[in-house]
Amino acid sequence: MAQKTTRTPMVAGNWKMNLDHVEAIHLIQALALRLRSTESSQIDVVVHPPFTDLRSVEGIIGADSLPIRLGAQHCSDLESGAFTGEVSVGMLSRLSVELVLVGHSERRQFFGMTDELVASTASAVLGGGLTAIICVGESAEQRADGETTTVLTHQVEMALAGVASGAEDRVLFAYEPIWAIGTGVAATEVDAQMACAHIRSVIAHERTEAIASTMRILYGGSAKPDNAGDLVGQPDVDGLLVGGASLDAESFAAMIEAVSACYGSPAGK
Ligand code: PGA
Repeated sequence: MAQKTTRTPMVAGNWKMNLDHVEAIHLIQALALRLRSTESSQIDVVVHPPFTDLRSVEGIIGADSLPIRLGAQHCSDLESGAFTGEVSVGMLSRLSVELVLVGHSERRQFFGMTDELVASTASAVLGGGLTAIICVGESAEQRADGETTTVLTHQVEMALAGVASGAEDRVLFAYEPIWAIGTGVAATEVDAQMACAHIRSVIAHERTEAIASTMRILYGGSAKPDNAGDLVGQPDVDGLLVGGASLDAESFAAMIEAVSACYGSPAGK
């Protein structure tokens, strides 16, 4: 298995349905200012604003050549047509979006996103040349019933059905236990490590050991500045998908610094 340090760490902020485009401009400017004093060059820093903010955030990142990559929170698996309310991969890539969250538990829970739709959306994202961050994770009930690894195996296998052979280098998985999202109760680093190692073993089984060892696996769910270092200090946790704490420039930057410190200085050595 490849060393963790061969995988570039990522800290991605999922803004969810927060911040209009004016607020988004303020946050990205504050973050840019804060990151000037941070050694973050060896970390992939990503923000996933709402669709309506993308154009504004793209403009600021481009104008100032900020070391921040642009992501979307969701997209359609369809190319174009009479699909009211949907946004295509092509529309996103025209706005310099490079990454898309696929199958976030809030899409699965509240908007009926099935495993099949997760796979076809991943396929669309990859087909359009973008990177997919595929989210998987068990509910509190499934965890209580001891089903965590079974659920993860199923979700990872189903999602990989949408990943063409050769496209794996544009795929990340995010382990996001549903019980930890927005609750303030993060998984312990031991639980996060176990789950991420399990996801990696499923990828190895479905594809190859080499693919599994280079694919990045993030943790998400109540990640904060004070637990970021412990989580990413684990051998199979390659970064963080951050919800609430990404809405504040100071806390998001502090998490980037904590991740950077895990990889030595400069980051990602
Ligand atoms: P949280 O959300 O950090 O607010 O728990 C994480 C996520 O849903 O990606």
